[in-house]
Amino acid sequence: MTMTPSRDRRSTHPIGRLERTLIDEITLNERVRELGAEIAADYAERDLVLLCLLKGGIYFTADLSRAIDLPLTVEFVRARSYAGTESSGEVKLSWIDGLEIDGRDVLIVEDIVDTGLTLVEIWDALEARGAASLAICALLYKEKRLAHPFPVRYIGFAIEDVFVVGYGLDYDERFRNLPHIAVFQPDESSRGPSRQGRSPLSPP
Ligand code: IMP
Ligand code: MG
Repeated sequence: MTMTPSRDRRSTHPIGRLERTLIDEITLNERVRELGAEIAADYAERDLVLLCLLKGGIYFTADLSRAIDLPLTVEFVRARSYAGTESSGEVKLSWIDGLEIDGRDVLIVEDIVDTGLTLVEIWDALEARGAASLAICALLYKEKRLAHPFPVRYIGFAIEDVFVVGYGLDYDERFRNLPHIAVFQPDESSRGPSRQGRSPLSPP
């Protein structure tokens, strides 16, 4: 028999602290099911491709795809909006060359829309590849931070301007595997020289 730890060990790490739960697991799952039903109705006669933006979209895409009762396909693109440990303001896309989306209806699945820069970049790249239609589904949406206004067709939750982790979202690659969304406060003293002065609200 294994002992159950009294505290979730995923939440303990010296780089910072989880301040509070913003969206609990039950609320998340219910909303993902609602989004799935809505998407299934909208795309009933279409040839749907869910395009997961890695890494953050991994859990959301896995759950959302199972909540959509259609014969869809799933594709993956990696989007990074940083160079090394510094935010660069540039988005680097990987694996986009092999995508076959010509004539298909593409729904981009994103963990969070923060400044909107990632979406601007991916939208332009996909438009050039001949998709029949393009739309965006974001689990979280920080309206106050939006520097690049972008039409997001499906939004899980509009949230306040706080840095969050869990359900795919990371801080320095940690906390993606929390089953809920939590507000995160980094520990300034644990940061290396290259991270200092960088706001946790800058895309990592
Ligand atoms: P955008 O290009 O500024 O919209 O930022 C998108 C990316 O920044 C997301 O896909 C995340 O990887 C990251 N990001 C933005 N805000 C947060 C946050 O609160 N927590 C974790 N990652 C975030
Ligand atoms: Mg990230």
